[in-house]
Amino acid sequence: MKIPENQILIIFGASGDLTKRKLIPALYDLFRQNLLPERFAVLGASRTVLTDSEFRKQAEQFLPSNKEVEQFTNLLFYKAVSPTEPSGFKNLKLRLKKLGEDFNIDANYLFYLSTPPAVYLNIAENLAEYGLSKSTSHFRRLIVEKPFGTDLKSAQQLNINLLKHFDENQIYRIDHYLGKESVQNMLVTRFSNGIFEPLWNRNFIERIEITSAESLGVEDRGGYYDHSGALRDMLQNHLMQLVGFVAMEPPVVMKADAIRNEIVKVFQSMRPIPEKEVSRHVVRGQYISSKINGETVKGYREEARVDDQSRTETFVAMKFYIDNWRWGGVPFSIRTGKKLPASVTEIVIHFKQVPHHLFNNEGLPELNNNQLIIRIQPDEGILLKFRMKTPGAGFKVQTVNMDFHYSDLADVRLPSAYERLLLDCMQGDATLYSRGDAVEEAWRFVQPVLNAWKNNTDIPLYGYPAGTWGPEIADTLTEGGQWRYPCKNLVNDGTWCEL
Ligand code: BG6
Repeated sequence: MKIPENQILIIFGASGDLTKRKLIPALYDLFRQNLLPERFAVLGASRTVLTDSEFRKQAEQFLPSNKEVEQFTNLLFYKAVSPTEPSGFKNLKLRLKKLGEDFNIDANYLFYLSTPPAVYLNIAENLAEYGLSKSTSHFRRLIVEKPFGTDLKSAQQLNINLLKHFDENQIYRIDHYLGKESVQNMLVTRFSNGIFEPLWNRNFIERIEITSAESLGVEDRGGYYDHSGALRDMLQNHLMQLVGFVAMEPPVVMKADAIRNEIVKVFQSMRPIPEKEVSRHVVRGQYISSKINGETVKGYREEARVDDQSRTETFVAMKFYIDNWRWGGVPFSIRTGKKLPASVTEIVIHFKQVPHHLFNNEGLPELNNNQLIIRIQPDEGILLKFRMKTPGAGFKVQTVNMDFHYSDLADVRLPSAYERLLLDCMQGDATLYSRGDAVEEAWRFVQPVLNAWKNNTDIPLYGYPAGTWGPEIADTLTEGGQWRYPCKNLVNDGTWCEL
């Protein structure tokens, strides 16, 4: 593994939740594996006034307590900076210079925007103003957290504005789904095995289904979520990336631009859903109060910082087509929601029926077509469902499972998405980051849905009891098939299972 060049990581929004819960633990894990640059420092930057040691104490909250943690937190420093206050950036620059001198670190800077999106541009402008955005002798990179815009127009504007101060190859738009091991494995499964790719097209595949379900509700993020909703929060980014990986053509080489070119092509081939037809292709829902295991569970409108008349969707399901040679006529059904029965993300490839049925299975339940299930989380793995003869007289047929679980690999620890993505950016590898044009294409595809929901109040928002699989009408989006109702364990399925 190539160790990245020495550098300083500057985290804007360092006193926020993402830093404590995800970024610091990911950095610590890199530290433990000796994957951080030889000379390295993290400079936290946000409005809150903190000393270095207070920042280190905050960081420790989500780390184990041991000697290694102490060594790790010695790499953490802090500077109070207001993103909208240009003078603070002068001090930031001085602090960076001093850190560089004290620890013999070159002026390679990686800026991480983990602030509310409203100040992304202020930060980029102020960095540029103080000569921190470009350098001929050292690298300067900018990681931008989601949401990247709230619609097509704002995403385009954000791209234009950021590109005034940074070049495209300096901008790393994060989508943490791309950092998941099982998502990357999709490329390996497809493009390193001779058995899948020949079948991976409209001739053999009947339909494709993607589910990203969460059993949690909005928790303490009501303020953000009520202005976002499932379409913006999950579908436009995470689910679209999964569609990109499952539907893309083989890239020419495993290089950032080759892969990103193929993903953009998928997004460009997605058949636009006309605003007038949105209700035929998209179902939205919102969870309502219910009883789960005898306990009353709040409805979305009762959540903190959520409007009590809110029409924000906490569930969205969509059917669409990809108009290209590989996928012409194959329906894709995707769904995501909060307060569903399980926390599961998976892709189900439904293969076509055999052309002629030789075996008479009379009196037995109807068999599903062959399915390949790519489990993104939890119980990461792959499951193939195929038919076998039931032992005994005659030719009765049953469906059996062939399954691979990552957990079966001895000594394998799955790195967290942020661990992988931070390391990639430190090494200057943008393969698993979204390119500006892809983000815009993804917004272009969902924009008619946003418009229709805004302009046509007759489009229903269906209530679904918390703890169920969303509005039943979403079943109409699977082209006569059925959604797979996944459980925590990859191999279990059915309407009821242990969660
Ligand atoms: C985030 C969304 O991007 O992804 C959250 O804002 C969601 O609402 C989360 O819960 C899901 O991520 P994961 O990795 O838990 O599937």
